[in-house]
Amino acid sequence: MKIEGCVALVTGANRGLGQALVEALIVAGARKIYAAARDESKVLTSDPRVVPLRLDTTNPELIAAAAARANDVNLLVNNAGVLSSFRLLGGGSAALAADFRTNVFGMLDVVRAFLPVLARAERAAIVNVLSLASLASVPTMGGYSASKAAAYSITQALRAELGAQRIEVLAALPGPIDTDMVKSLDLPKASPTDVARGIVRGIAGGEEEIFPDPMAAQMGELWRSSPKEYERALGRF
Ligand SMILES: NC(=O)c1ccc[n+]([C@@H]2O[C@H](COP(=O)([O-])OP(=O)(O)OC[C@H]3O[C@@H](n4cnc5c(N)ncnc54)[C@H](OP(=O)(O)O)[C@@H]3O)[C@@H](O)[C@H]2O)c1
Repeated sequence: MKIEGCVALVTGANRGLGQALVEALIVAGARKIYAAARDESKVLTSDPRVVPLRLDTTNPELIAAAAARANDVNLLVNNAGVLSSFRLLGGGSAALAADFRTNVFGMLDVVRAFLPVLARAERAAIVNVLSLASLASVPTMGGYSASKAAAYSITQALRAELGAQRIEVLAALPGPIDTDMVKSLDLPKASPTDVARGIVRGIAGGEEEIFPDPMAAQMGELWRSSPKEYERALGRF
């Protein structure tokens, strides 16, 4: 997917990786970027190419309004996500449901709403921001991992279904990133800027699985060579 001249929409664009994705898309030559956020006044930019847009990905009316307004999008980046559910044993189902609500159902509802828009474009792509935990569970975040695994399965289904319409469907699978989401975790983390640039490079290269940072790239090699070893490695966290 050619980034130069594209019209992108990034969900959860007011902070963290989403904000960095907007910046990386500008650097890569995107013509316009809808920076979608629950509170669009928190999108801080003076760049005329960035258009703040109100979007809570769990609110059907706001999703429909966003798809009506941003009707020229040809690159949809589903970045909005939450981490509410940690260990599956001992944790309640409310936190698990919260993770599924945003990371799975919200993502899918946004895709459904934007499909007519993407289908009109000569070239289009959907990029779902998932996680290394999509490919095997991190037990300390067992609920979140399950939601990201479901989102990966949906990504595969969409890829198969939308291939005929020539809409690319890509999965971005980062390792830990230095954002609010994991600020309490004492782990080596990649910078949001580096991860965003890695994702944008992967989009440009049409990579179906984008491993955007050095740790993700290393884990991606392991996943390709031995999914079982990969499962064991993540199972230690
Ligand atoms: N941080 C990591 O280590 C890591 C690793 C791998 C993958 N990821 C994934 O990367 C993506 C971005 O995460 P991050 O690290 O940047 O987290 P973050 O700093 O917590 O930011 C999350 C973003 O998602 C938005 N969001 C949450 N629920 C939303 C909803 N219902 N509607 C619209 N926006 C919503 C938040 O908006 P508000 O400001 O309104 O809350 C915020 O902009 C997520 O999908 C996450 O799962 C993160």
